[in-house]
Amino acid sequence: MDQSTLPPHVLIFPLPLQGPVNSMFKLAELLCLSGFHITFLVTDHIHTRLLKYSNIQSRFERYPGFQLETISDGLPEDHPRSGNGLMEMFDSLKTKNKILFKDLLTSGKLNLDSRRPVTCIIADGIMGYTCDVANDVGIPIIFVRTISACCLWVFFCLPKLIESGELPFSVDNDLDTPIKSIPGMESFFRRRDLPSFCRSGNLWDPSLQLYLPESTENPRAYGLIINTFDDLEGPILAQIRTLCPNLYTIGPLHSHLKYKLSVDSSSPLTSSNSLWKEDTSCITWLDSQPSKSVIYVSFGSLAVMTKEQYMEFWYGLVNSGSRFLWVIRPDSVTNNSSEIPLELSEGTKERGYIVEWAPQEEVLAHNAVGGFLTHSGWNSTLESVIEGVPMICWPYFLDQQVNSRFVGEVWKLGLDMKDTCDRLIIEKTVRELMDGRKDEFMNRADQMKKLAKQCLSEGGSSYCNLERLIKDIKDM
Ligand code: UDX
Repeated sequence: MDQSTLPPHVLIFPLPLQGPVNSMFKLAELLCLSGFHITFLVTDHIHTRLLKYSNIQSRFERYPGFQLETISDGLPEDHPRSGNGLMEMFDSLKTKNKILFKDLLTSGKLNLDSRRPVTCIIADGIMGYTCDVANDVGIPIIFVRTISACCLWVFFCLPKLIESGELPFSVDNDLDTPIKSIPGMESFFRRRDLPSFCRSGNLWDPSLQLYLPESTENPRAYGLIINTFDDLEGPILAQIRTLCPNLYTIGPLHSHLKYKLSVDSSSPLTSSNSLWKEDTSCITWLDSQPSKSVIYVSFGSLAVMTKEQYMEFWYGLVNSGSRFLWVIRPDSVTNNSSEIPLELSEGTKERGYIVEWAPQEEVLAHNAVGGFLTHSGWNSTLESVIEGVPMICWPYFLDQQVNSRFVGEVWKLGLDMKDTCDRLIIEKTVRELMDGRKDEFMNRADQMKKLAKQCLSEGGSSYCNLERLIKDIKDM
């Protein structure tokens, strides 16, 4: 077969975490719709969970050019890969996965008669070693970031923060001290809004060391895909372009895909890329709640809280008088015992619903949902923005501290509750979002939702950037 007549063959390698895997499946499907051949590479750990809980197999059956491939992350199967174990995963990827990744690309395993050898790699930019491998084997690579542009820009400025002496500082110092050496953020950014690892007071902190080379690592690739849209992060994107001129902002990816499917196909399949079993009974519960009356509470796939924090949230939610739908992952509360105070179980029976994992996109799109108490993970933030749902932010770590500042202070889409965990504050904040300042936040959220939709429709920035990405990959 004359292989030059075949479509491009793109290998997509996401960071092995729920958020990035989720959004990269959306990108994969968008590229499949353009007729590309896709090899989607996941770690064995992610693969096992996807086969158990997601519908990727049935969903991708209709794209004959799609194939799923697996690789080891180098960790034992029972490793937690969340909370404090996360850094061990990064170490293991860099040391062990790098060798396996190169072996896979040179093994010939991916070169079937019916498809070209890999013509382009799209890998998460935090796995900088994939660029070394791509250069070694002579395949062009585009990096992708599934975090916000605002957080990426903070990462890019870490060396500047050190040079200026703003880093390190110790957690006993005043966290409200303004940060002045991040261009574009001088007027509103504080120490407490920096990624959580900046509080360690130690320049050798492993997370800081991991993110420190970002400003030199990311520009090494042919281009950089970011899951965001220009009307949300325009000024910060202009800053990032000074280092990475070839940016493809094509987000929010999940909505972009929905939009393309609604145009291209008469019967789009609902997508689930979940690594936990979705409890859809919460949708039935939402169906019987009044419009915009429910606050949806979820802290994402990695955050872990103490029993005390859990109790503060529970009391705060029950005492707020609001209806609530709460996701509590089985592994998300430390030292959890089974005794539940009567007032909590009764308050929950009356107005609440608790599940271990929810179909979140469907929940946020539900008419009964009027607010989102979130850890400010980037996917959750975008999913909330596109549905016009105002947020209360309780960031846990990494990028979430930055995202929550932008939600509260720049985009004014909600309230930032970072660094507090007190039942009275939670009660008051929920009342403010769901009642006192409801109209104000709903209006803002509605405006941003409209802008996001415009970016995705024909002629919009995300729409055009995806077209450009597709063309550039075809030309490779
Ligand atoms: C987070 C950050 O967002 C990421 O950028 C960072 O580097 C690591 O920590 P995560 O906790 O997975 O990742 O949060 P988020 O990015 O919000 O992604 C969670 C995903 O899980 C979302 O797509 C959400 O829809 C989905 N989800 C969450 C469900 O489907 N059901 C749930 O019950 C909860």
